[in-house]
Amino acid sequence: MSNRKSLVIVTRKLPAPIETRMMELFNARLNLDDRPLTEAELRAAAAEAEILVPTVTDRIDRKVIEAAGRQLGLIASFGTGVDHVDLKAARERGIAVTNTPGVLTEDTADMVMALILAVARRLSEGERLIRAGKWLGWAPTSMLGVRLGGKRLGIVGMGRIGAAVARRARGFGLQVHYHNRRPVLPDLERELDATYWESLDQMLSRMDVISVNCPHTPATYHLLSARRIRLLRPDAILVNTARGEVIDEAALTAALAERAIAGAGLDVYEHEPGVPAKLLELDNVVLLPHIGSATNEGRLAMGERVIINIKSFVDGHKPPDRVFEQML
Ligand code: 8YV
Repeated sequence: MSNRKSLVIVTRKLPAPIETRMMELFNARLNLDDRPLTEAELRAAAAEAEILVPTVTDRIDRKVIEAAGRQLGLIASFGTGVDHVDLKAARERGIAVTNTPGVLTEDTADMVMALILAVARRLSEGERLIRAGKWLGWAPTSMLGVRLGGKRLGIVGMGRIGAAVARRARGFGLQVHYHNRRPVLPDLERELDATYWESLDQMLSRMDVISVNCPHTPATYHLLSARRIRLLRPDAILVNTARGEVIDEAALTAALAERAIAGAGLDVYEHEPGVPAKLLELDNVVLLPHIGSATNEGRLAMGERVIINIKSFVDGHKPPDRVFEQML
């Protein structure tokens, strides 16, 4: 076995212990100042790397993949969603793609509950009031929100994160409903005490709270279309921690502005880091900067999975988190 270390190009700054371990194991080229790579820099990285480690902020499109040298064997993405990678192009070139599933499930589900609570109980509004020096003291009818207990939660996409949300939601007294391509296994459905809706339209029109937890794929782009947003109840709260592209953001913004729905909690946007100016003006929206999985523990675990995937690959084994196999 040769001692030559594989060239691993990492596009963003990762937690220090992960970078250190990458330096030990591979010929790792790190991004110490964390400036996102330009399109041209991404192409240059693909041309040189044996393994490329991108994140959600890098568009690994067909052009980048076509610029890859013959030596590029693996795109080991740091994150679960892989909608930033042109999977078809990678597959055609015989480049494996891996992600980091499982390790950010609980953190993301925590954030879903945080957003539901923040919107229902008007946390950001209250915080803004105090910081603006406008709080005049307690009053019996000020800042009233809605109680979660006894309400219906509709989960769009009952994968790992959806199920983790359902478990938490039950603790808050929410009744769990879900829409998925197919029902989950009967045991899981029983454990979650969840009601399956084959029709997304029907579920949306009956829920008090909706949480989007499906990946962004060509099939889920604008799944919550303008038409479907109009199906939501006027007192509904919509939370998105998945991908901005799953919701028609302009239609959602309009619905919130007209109070056609009660509120929304958003951690993701269609054109990140861009956030529609109109959304910034609305009081009934809680806006977070894509931090659903942003915990120290989660980031370390994501980095570990990236390393395991790369190490398996360079040792001649199949990396465990191969995306094409997950899609079967
Ligand atoms: C990650 C995410 O932080 O993993 C995902 O799909 O959306 C985020 O929580 C990001 O993808 C890192 O690349």
